[in-house]
Amino acid sequence: MLQGNELPRVGAPAGAATREHFERKERCVARGITHMAPIVIESARGAVIRDIDGNLYLDFYGGIGVANAGHCPGGVVETIRRQAEKLLHSCFMVAGYTPYVDLAEKLVEITPGDGPKKAMLVNSGAEAVENAVKIARAHTGRPGVIAFEASFHGRTLLTMSLTSKVKPYKHQFGPFAPEIHKVPSAYCYRCLFGASYPDCGLACLDYFDRFFTAEADPTEIAAMIIEPVQGEGGFIVPPPEFLPGLREICDRHGIVLIADEVQTGFGRTGRLFASEHYGVVPDLITLAKGIASGLPLSAVVGRAEIMDAPTPGRIGGTFGGNPVACAAALATIGEIETQNLCARARHIGEFLEGRLRTLQKRYPQIGDVRCLGAMVAAEFVTDPDSKTPAKEIPGALIAACFRRGLLVISAGVFSNVVRFLPPLVVSDEQLEKAAGIFEEAVEEVLGK
Ligand SMILES: Cc1ncc(COP(=O)(O)O)c(C=O)c1O
Repeated sequence: MLQGNELPRVGAPAGAATREHFERKERCVARGITHMAPIVIESARGAVIRDIDGNLYLDFYGGIGVANAGHCPGGVVETIRRQAEKLLHSCFMVAGYTPYVDLAEKLVEITPGDGPKKAMLVNSGAEAVENAVKIARAHTGRPGVIAFEASFHGRTLLTMSLTSKVKPYKHQFGPFAPEIHKVPSAYCYRCLFGASYPDCGLACLDYFDRFFTAEADPTEIAAMIIEPVQGEGGFIVPPPEFLPGLREICDRHGIVLIADEVQTGFGRTGRLFASEHYGVVPDLITLAKGIASGLPLSAVVGRAEIMDAPTPGRIGGTFGGNPVACAAALATIGEIETQNLCARARHIGEFLEGRLRTLQKRYPQIGDVRCLGAMVAAEFVTDPDSKTPAKEIPGALIAACFRRGLLVISAGVFSNVVRFLPPLVVSDEQLEKAAGIFEEAVEEVLGK
């Protein structure tokens, strides 16, 4: 059985079972659903994944930001087992059970904001975003939603419409949901106003004056939704004034500020929620991914008067707040707190950022290094002056890392970013090994 502290061990060739898996998958799974790594996972623990051929990999994508407390944390697995023996499902819309309320109480307690708050539970990040928008519309009686370029909010019709990357997410999937307005995000490396921070004076905030004149009246806007750090867009960390500026604009116009913390939540950025870095209290916050160590669960949490806008029976769902998932979430949050994984995220971020910045001095193709806690990314360009996105580099690097036993994935609105999202329980030895592998991969792909 894996301990979780192993180092990579690769070299066993794909055996018959792996080959058969891929043949069967091709026959019965829609081809739109792809694997990023050509392996079949047998088990995982901590920061280590074992494939069915016996190879061991360091997982630096963490189930895409889900395994914050590590793969299969012992206490969480035991809690799941105990809850599964008692109650798998009843549907919270029909009859109550305590894990739902226990978790709602905990989320209300740990999310930013001191005033009265409430929560609702659903199943996925996209479903949380859908519900946050419904709640904001019910509260304001307004239709419009402002979203940001380079954002990702999910793959359902509404959340895909809020999302800002054409391929693969939107192409041929229209028509899109109406009443959605896109504005530039604070992507300083590629500022849409051609300015540079801090001399820009935050042109992206000033833009709202023009937007509210040319595009939409603020009295018709229900909500503004922002990822405090844009995740799929390429780990875009805004300057410190950006979120407080958005808070002020929303306050001025009675717009509900939704922080989509699906990827940034639960310790990932070095605080329990990334909004805390900016001293901003969102009206609503959407949560998923790291909440329950992999069980499907998501939440909308926010100001009670807004959360209560939909009258009884108007929000919910068959599986939302499943008792096993709620129990897993409570145990996961317990692990994050008792192991102080926020501090660990900060350590991981500092370590990886340092190594990437050293590499950047040797490789001009590393155009930008961005990081907030253990959300760490490198953006690749053909040359630093033109900043032309080098889309082919992440794929080659990811393959070179894979051959050495390190799993990383790409991101970026221009598909030119490699991102690191390791489980926050990763050891120093594993971090050192992963950084070494990445450096070797860069040397292989970009030359010594
Ligand atoms: C910020 C953000 N919001 C929403 C989603 C959608 O979550 P899900 O895939 O669980 O629907 C994601 C997924 O990556 C995300 O990163």
